[in-house]
Amino acid sequence: MTDPAELQLTEIEPKDATMAKEVLAGLRASPKVLSPKYFYDERGSQLFDEITALPEYYPTRTEIGIMEANIDEIVALVGRQASLIEFGSGSSLKTRILLDNLNDLAAYVPVEISREYLLAIVEGLQADYPHIEMLPVFADFTKPFELPAPRVAPVKNVVYFPGSTIGNFAPAKALDLLRVMASEAKQGGALLIGVDLKKDTAILEAAYNDSQGVTARFNLNMLRRLNNELDADFVLDDFRHRAIYNEEEGRIEMHLISERDQSFVVAGEQFSIKKGESIRTECSYKFTLEEFSALAAQAGFQQRQVWKDSNALFSVQFLECVSNN
Ligand code: AVJ
Repeated sequence: MTDPAELQLTEIEPKDATMAKEVLAGLRASPKVLSPKYFYDERGSQLFDEITALPEYYPTRTEIGIMEANIDEIVALVGRQASLIEFGSGSSLKTRILLDNLNDLAAYVPVEISREYLLAIVEGLQADYPHIEMLPVFADFTKPFELPAPRVAPVKNVVYFPGSTIGNFAPAKALDLLRVMASEAKQGGALLIGVDLKKDTAILEAAYNDSQGVTARFNLNMLRRLNNELDADFVLDDFRHRAIYNEEEGRIEMHLISERDQSFVVAGEQFSIKKGESIRTECSYKFTLEEFSALAAQAGFQQRQVWKDSNALFSVQFLECVSNN
């Protein structure tokens, strides 16, 4: 099944024109905001890969370590002939750790908004795991979508959401997303999720203000992308990266701070920004174990197992869907 023509792709989200609308709405708002989902063009994805290897950026290597240390328990909890539904495509080593060890899967179903990216990733995975039925879904996973039917009827659906990407959603949106996951997992199904934990502010801030400036380039790349894709005229040197931990909100905030009073154009619309004013590009919420279990419970998920590293920096959690809320 390495021929892409043989891949059965389920297309739910054929439109791509929402970016301009969403970007303009965010820049008209006060304070100005841009969605972190726009970080990930080709260069942004490359920069994110570089971030994951930085000494200060603990989440990725810590999550991988937790997965590796506990893979036997994870495999036992996933159980036989499950359908593994990954929210976001399986570009990471973490997906491969699962696919290497789950040798009795009914299907692997990656759900991803970028069609090209999804197809490229699944082709690579299908070549390496020819025995696993792969059913990619091109969809915006924040809205409920219909799952394709595997050839083998799954015993249960297990949603996989690694990387603490759940932290990119404000609490109400995170709950909405967990509810979509519960509706896909269905009662008796489960969620395997990576959740970054609250910790010392200095550790958090260092992770988003690395000494090599990679995170700064990643943040500024959002403006480069708008220049390329939305006919914007941002001068990247006129903005600087800033990341701070907002204690009350329990989140890291990434900002682009204007170095002077200036104006810029995006998709034909002009905006002005003052010296020192920010465009907020990302919130990355951090959780205590209790906070996350309370949030997940509201969506119908009950914590079955929580694995942490020895420094309690990060958690991987297995939750059972006990009801669809
Ligand atoms: C991919 C959302 C988990 O919040 O740590 C890394 C993105 N931003 N450095 C995170 C990110 C800046 C990352 N997530």
